[in-house]
Amino acid sequence: MLECRKRFIVGSMLCITACAADERGDAPAHIDQSIVGGHVAQPGQIGWQAGLFAIDEGALYQICGGTLVDAHAGWVVTAAHCVVSYPAEVEGPWQPTDASRLRVSVGERTLSTIAPEAYHAVQRVIVHPEYDDLTGRNDLALLQVQGVAATAVTARLDGTEPFDTLIGEGSIATGSGWGVTRAQPADIDVDVEQGPPQDASLTELESDLDEYGRPDTLRWVNLPIAPLADCKERVRDPEDRNLRVTDDMICAGTLQGGRDTCYGDSGGPLVVPVFGLPVLVGVTSWGVGCAAPGYYGVYTRVRSYRGWLLDCMNAPDRCG
Ligand code: ARG
Repeated sequence: MLECRKRFIVGSMLCITACAADERGDAPAHIDQSIVGGHVAQPGQIGWQAGLFAIDEGALYQICGGTLVDAHAGWVVTAAHCVVSYPAEVEGPWQPTDASRLRVSVGERTLSTIAPEAYHAVQRVIVHPEYDDLTGRNDLALLQVQGVAATAVTARLDGTEPFDTLIGEGSIATGSGWGVTRAQPADIDVDVEQGPPQDASLTELESDLDEYGRPDTLRWVNLPIAPLADCKERVRDPEDRNLRVTDDMICAGTLQGGRDTCYGDSGGPLVVPVFGLPVLVGVTSWGVGCAAPGYYGVYTRVRSYRGWLLDCMNAPDRCG
């Protein structure tokens, strides 16, 4: 896991690979199954969910999630750490991943049945220019995706009245993705307590988990938005002192643990429904393990970046 956390910096595909190798080895046997502690999405339930895929030697690998925020122009919000590469050496500066190496699905639910034409090409990769891979700050990027149906479901960006006044600490937010479904201890030496019982809808779908606990069908989990001061106090990675919760991040989860986003969910949506409409409040970014008691998950706070996102979508050539 140490290796895995370090690889957060390098990119989630590597992270997943590293975690997966760990899990095959000495992961505790009693960790809970089931995003962690979540539910299987029904068709159309999380219509704004995007999937981000990397092409490697002709094969496509799901590496992250994303959120469709503008169907007409095909804008998908994701995390910076999902779409940066290190061409020189691991410690060198990041570069946006070449768009030709990425594909994006929109509104899909089951990975194994995505039609070839539903893997959309990416036209632009815009990484927040101040993304800092050491501190995890400004973990945000925009992808312009080709061929998205104008009728596709979108989420709106948090930060406009009256929506923003209705969202705050204690609001119930929904995180979603195809990430790891098994809790990951905050400290490799500490056992993870058993999480809450699984959703009954999972039993018939248990077979949709691959050997690393990654599901074929989209999952979602409800997570209360946490007090930021408490999150700043608690969420510190003992193995990575550079990673710190800042005002431009938003935390969600429960202190009992058992429910969280996890590896592979990065870049995906944290949404609060307001008047029945999904408002994007966070972009899945980082955590200390997954679903560990005493911690929250950390998300990029969309409200802090509303201006940057809108400016980029309006004038992408002048952005970056
Ligand atoms: N960085 C992870 C990824 O690349 C997401 C981790 C979210 N972790 C958490 N405990 N909420 O997929």
